[in-house]
Amino acid sequence: MSRPQIRLLRSLEEFRACEHIQKAVWGNVGVGSEVLAVTQKYGGVVLGAVVGGKVVGCLYAFLARRHKVLIHWSHIMAVEPAHRDQGLGFRMKLAHRQLALERGIKSICWTYDPLQSRNAALNIVRLGARVEEYIPNCYGRFPSAIERGLPSDRFVVNWRIASLAVARRLRDGIRLHRFRLASLPRANETRLNARGFLENTQICLRLHARRVLVEIPWNTDILRAEDLRLARRWRVETRKIFQHYFAAGYYVEDFLSPSAGTDARCFYVLRREGSLPPTRGTRGL
Ligand SMILES: CC(C)(COP(=O)(O)OP(=O)(O)OC[C@H]1O[C@@H](n2cnc3c(N)ncnc32)[C@H](O)[C@@H]1OP(=O)(O)O)[C@@H](O)C(=O)NCCC(=O)NCCS
Repeated sequence: MSRPQIRLLRSLEEFRACEHIQKAVWGNVGVGSEVLAVTQKYGGVVLGAVVGGKVVGCLYAFLARRHKVLIHWSHIMAVEPAHRDQGLGFRMKLAHRQLALERGIKSICWTYDPLQSRNAALNIVRLGARVEEYIPNCYGRFPSAIERGLPSDRFVVNWRIASLAVARRLRDGIRLHRFRLASLPRANETRLNARGFLENTQICLRLHARRVLVEIPWNTDILRAEDLRLARRWRVETRKIFQHYFAAGYYVEDFLSPSAGTDARCFYVLRREGSLPPTRGTRGL
């Protein structure tokens, strides 16, 4: 099979293909072909991953202003399930970066669900995007098939595409840090329950180490489909953890996924900036 091509989409037919992908991935069409067409024409970007003439992935971003700076807001990126984990998402982001830099844009921002480990691996590790906000229930009652039944909490990430840090991350490969997992304190202790799903046994909101680990499930989609109550618990508990530690001056420094030798486990690494945060209590579950 020919190597998938990443390129700007052109025809109404290709924009309609993006609608089909959105339907397949989220169960609904968030951005229709008309808006995709005008966005492409007037300052935004609609990229596709094309395999044998068929659009199997798409990325949609529009011009926006954030903190008084002109940016691209990347509202949609999706790859059909059969074509995932082959680097198409990464390649679309790289193509977007190139185009945006050529147009004088220095920042691309988007949101993602902090409980989606695949997105975290791509956004934080491969791309070097920086988490800047935690928004609880960002889209309200979101009709997405991906998270039906869960509040749509999101991280807002800022990918500073013109920065040295991002250029280095893209040049040097996926891992800049080496952590000894056992030596880092954990904001949540976990165990596998009888059904084989990860659950929290204790949450600690009083850590003030320089680095703190936050574990998330590696299989949130399966967990949500098979045990919605536990998935909701994960949402509520990780919201509490992230909001607490962000307010205390921590930021997301890295993400460790199974490819980093974590034995099928996923951890955010939070790092503290500045002075010690105030002490709070530990909550047993
Ligand atoms: C997010 C999405 C676009 C990524 O597309 P993709 O083509 O699969 O992405 P890539 O193959 O470039 O990168 C995926 C990475 O996640 C890793 N990964 C796969 N499953 C994983 C898991 N359960 N946990 C952690 N990492 C995982 C892959 O190994 C790969 O990393 P690598 O390249 O270092 O090996 C795709 O998963 C998708 O369409 N998701 C649903 C829609 C969505 O969430 N969109 C983003 C928000 S708008």
